Amino acid sequence: MNPTLPQNPADAPVPNVPTIFIIFGVTGDLAGRKLLPSLLSLYVKKQLPSKFAIVGFSRRPFTREEFRQLMRDNMKIKHGQFREEDVKHFLDHMSYEQGNFDIPEAYDRLAEKLDLIDKGWKQCSNKLFHLATPPSFYEVILDRLAESGLTIPCGGDLGWTRILIEKPFGNDTDTAKLLDKKLAKLFKEEQIFRIDHYLAKEALQNILTFRFANSLFEPLWNRDFVDKVHIKLFEKIDIEDRGPLYDNVGALKDVGQNHMLQMLALIAMEKPASFEAGPIRKERVKALSKLRQITARTVSATCVRGQYEGYMKERGVRPDSQTETFFRIEAHVDNARWKGVPFFLESGKAMFESRVEIDMYFSAEDSDIERQNVLTFRIQPDEGIKIRFWVKTPGYSNEVEPKTMKFRYSEMTDTAALPDAYERVLHDAVVGDQTLFADTDEVLAAWKFITPIMNVWRSIPLTFYKKGAKEV
Ligand code: BG6
Repeated sequence: MNPTLPQNPADAPVPNVPTIFIIFGVTGDLAGRKLLPSLLSLYVKKQLPSKFAIVGFSRRPFTREEFRQLMRDNMKIKHGQFREEDVKHFLDHMSYEQGNFDIPEAYDRLAEKLDLIDKGWKQCSNKLFHLATPPSFYEVILDRLAESGLTIPCGGDLGWTRILIEKPFGNDTDTAKLLDKKLAKLFKEEQIFRIDHYLAKEALQNILTFRFANSLFEPLWNRDFVDKVHIKLFEKIDIEDRGPLYDNVGALKDVGQNHMLQMLALIAMEKPASFEAGPIRKERVKALSKLRQITARTVSATCVRGQYEGYMKERGVRPDSQTETFFRIEAHVDNARWKGVPFFLESGKAMFESRVEIDMYFSAEDSDIERQNVLTFRIQPDEGIKIRFWVKTPGYSNEVEPKTMKFRYSEMTDTAALPDAYERVLHDAVVGDQTLFADTDEVLAAWKFITPIMNVWRSIPLTFYKKGAKEV
């Protein structure tokens, strides 16, 4: 194996040190949909320390039995995906602490509970605090955590404390800076894991390997040969029952500020000095910080905002809401490699299909755009890479026609067995590998691009589209 290329840290074993996962907002949608199923899967694959506990912290009161039943019901797992016996044993590792996020005594009780678990294990355990609440609670939780002393590690390398924090990190550049300041007071950067679960998707990680392990493409990876890049994140689902949260966020902040810019960064970045967390993140930041600012003058020519019909009637959505569920932005990375190449970022809810992919269009001979070679990274579903190229139609004709070379992950491995992005996130947080997490500079570089757009965003009238639309 070429040692300069990304290795697969998923193979790195989780240190077998007792670990407690403390989940704030354990009764919420994210915990049920992603966190608990991922922890369960890691447990079944024996990728959690043999001594582990999950302590849920939330506002509503439950008896032990009610909590257990609620967790069982909330956990979105497919019928037959796990053995009932495993689910039962997994739930045995869970306990609950009720408390309002702003009440100091609740944190004292939490501290007692954690202490009791440690005493039972006769060891100071690792503690992973996971903020899975609406972001409006982050500040108060961080304050109370700090006052309670819970964030102070009880050991050296073993017995650490880390914090996992979900996007959005702030609401704009200023609030992101404030949040960061707060985090930096409590934790060192190596203790902070800012989740962008897209970075942990297998097909996304492969972009760097593909680029730098194959000499075929890198010489063409620039403005001389690439006409445009189109990054799409389409979802068939609508906002489901996330009305109150989503209506305050909108598509641009929900997926644009994070997932889509991360995809852009992986395409646009330069080769890192080495394939370790620091140098890779540094190059992602450099690419993001070269994004050309969109202003009041350029916004209407470069951006489209859409909303699916019926959105205003969704539960928890304002009846006159101007929040977008779709956007398209023409972005530009103003550096020597990419100057002049448009990067289209396009995302929508309630679209015809769920499809996340990146298309790179290479310049054609005689600028015949019909005849371009197109390289596609399919992130999901049906992960893979394909290339459109042209061949002569067989026979007497001199016509050319397009053909496709395809690679599908499913041909190489059982894709169902690949770790889900959240599994990877949790695994890496326990191992302490920050490669697939966003660092503070990345978050700020992304806001630096998004905040000015948000400031003039509403000047673009919404385009309404039918649910299931193929395009907007
Ligand atoms: C989340 C967004 O970050 O990503 C959701 O908040 C979106 O609105 C989700 O549905 C998409 O993630 P995935 O992994 O399902 O593509």
